[in-house]
Amino acid sequence: VIVAANFKSNLTREATTTYLATLEESVDGEGVFVFPPSTALQSHSGRVTLGTQNAYPAQNGAFTGEIALDQLDEFGIKTILIGHSERREILGESDEMLKSKFEFFATKGFKIIYCIGESLALRESGFEAVKEHLTHQLSFIDASYKDLIIAYEPIWAIGSGLIPSLEQIKQTHSSLRSLSDAPLLYGGSVKEENIADIVSIYGVDGVLVGGASLDARVFSNLCRIAKNINKES
Ligand code: 13P
Repeated sequence: VIVAANFKSNLTREATTTYLATLEESVDGEGVFVFPPSTALQSHSGRVTLGTQNAYPAQNGAFTGEIALDQLDEFGIKTILIGHSERREILGESDEMLKSKFEFFATKGFKIIYCIGESLALRESGFEAVKEHLTHQLSFIDASYKDLIIAYEPIWAIGSGLIPSLEQIKQTHSSLRSLSDAPLLYGGSVKEENIADIVSIYGVDGVLVGGASLDARVFSNLCRIAKNINKES
């Protein structure tokens, strides 16, 4: 099971360092990822893997406000989130931009968590529309890339406290499975109260957590619950 924490624009460098120390005390085994803000990237040895929430697809250069490969190499960062809906919607990243990020970081051998997801309007227009949208989003990348993880995050479930029904998650993941063999994460309002049910779903290989990942003890607990699930089949 994969459990990933996306801090977004929360926590400082100091808070991240303390967080990692707390998390390392309780994590056993693989599959725990933490994505702090860029200013909190650091060399980290331990079981937890540190990744970046974003980077510009270049070794270095004139890309004001961005970080590129040199800044990731400094800390041995080899894992990246690409395509988060907040970057698509708030920062205006197009599928073409995400494609070029994907291609660049795949060439550099990064583990890539590629995020896809539909709006509420699309979800309300029915599953076929959702399926078509997710298929379109994935068509920009090589879905057979060996270090790919796909995160399905319905936009309307992010930070809202709403989640799709377990049946809807199952249906969506099973349809994504026909497009890629990559591990499939669910993201959107995952918390202590619902993680067991979500991770139990056949076709869900893990979760990507925002708000509930910000406290190291809560996130450690999410990891513990997720790792102890016996999957339905
Ligand atoms: P929340 O867990 O806060 O809903 O955020 C989900 C998310 O966007 C993770 O990338």
